Amino acid sequence: MSQKTRFVALLAAGALALSMSACSGAAGGAASDCNVGITMPTRSLERWINDGEQLQAKLKEAKCTVDLQYADDKVDQQISQIQNQIAGGAKILVIASIDGTALGPVLEEAAKQKIKVIAYDRLINGSPNVDYYATFDNYKVGTLQGNFLKEQLKLDSATTPINFEAFAGSPDDNNAKFFFSGAWDVLLPYVTKGTLVVPSGKAPKTNDEWTTIGIPGWKSDKSQAEMDNRLSSNYAGGKKVQAVLSPNDSLAIGIEASLKSAGYVAGPDWPMITGQDGDKANVKAILAGEQAMTVWKDTRKLGERVFTMIQQISKGEKVEVNDEKTYNNGVKVVPSYLLEPEVVTKDQVQSKLIDSGFLKASDVGL
Ligand code: BGC
Repeated sequence: MSQKTRFVALLAAGALALSMSACSGAAGGAASDCNVGITMPTRSLERWINDGEQLQAKLKEAKCTVDLQYADDKVDQQISQIQNQIAGGAKILVIASIDGTALGPVLEEAAKQKIKVIAYDRLINGSPNVDYYATFDNYKVGTLQGNFLKEQLKLDSATTPINFEAFAGSPDDNNAKFFFSGAWDVLLPYVTKGTLVVPSGKAPKTNDEWTTIGIPGWKSDKSQAEMDNRLSSNYAGGKKVQAVLSPNDSLAIGIEASLKSAGYVAGPDWPMITGQDGDKANVKAILAGEQAMTVWKDTRKLGERVFTMIQQISKGEKVEVNDEKTYNNGVKVVPSYLLEPEVVTKDQVQSKLIDSGFLKASDVGL
């Protein structure tokens, strides 16, 4: 290397160092500010595994420091994970809460350290210390399920009553209320009119009563036991259930298992069942004619959105949101970014889930 080239190289290196420090200066210390603690509820559901791993990978690629934790659906475990992340120097917390009302004290700690908090998918309630919320339009998830049943069962022109059962999600999950409200705003008028008959009698009179049919922890074994009870107590003498509102895929799996053990087989006597998430087992059920649809939320898009929020926060930029009215957490309206969910039926599995790379054909036996 000639002296001149060496000099030019040195200059270039100096300029690069300068521009890097200017850059981190403008970003308020971008490198160190991008220290993120992610807490997810459980590894028992596919979606949370994907959610956590996708976001972690993006952040690592951007040279952020990341700590990703799963809490086995145990609230105390999640709280201590968040405490550890605060103690470990996290500057941003991304939290998919288990119980949206249980994080007040730990978030007060976070606020004292000027840590920004993003509620991921599920709103955190009762705390002023939630800065942003990124999710899918949860009310719309329910609307899509309700409208699907309305259209497929032709409720406006049905001449004979249809036996119908409804389920709701975990009572401690704020999303579950929105899913139910979206669906019930469509379906309750048909229950009232008698187009939909609910043999178990478990048909909330108002949206606010949704917790009476909520399945704790979104557990498949619990929805299965509940469906077993409803079938054995209310469907004697060959009476068949014809439609089931299931708010998500984990509950749908339990309901489908219960139907099978009660002797139902896929075909004309199998009820129309809704779902949400696009879990592999449920997509297989859709292909086998045991589930009519799933509401698909492309969790990769949620990860990208939260990644953008994190970048905007660590660069000191304005964080982009698209809803500043819907998600009141009891203390404040949390600025939110809502993404669009969409219906997937049997004939759309290939075009929507496989072609987009969300699932592999081999995952679902195609
Ligand atoms: C999520 C759903 C999920 C459910 C159970 C909800 O908060 O929005 O996608 O199926 O939790 O984990």
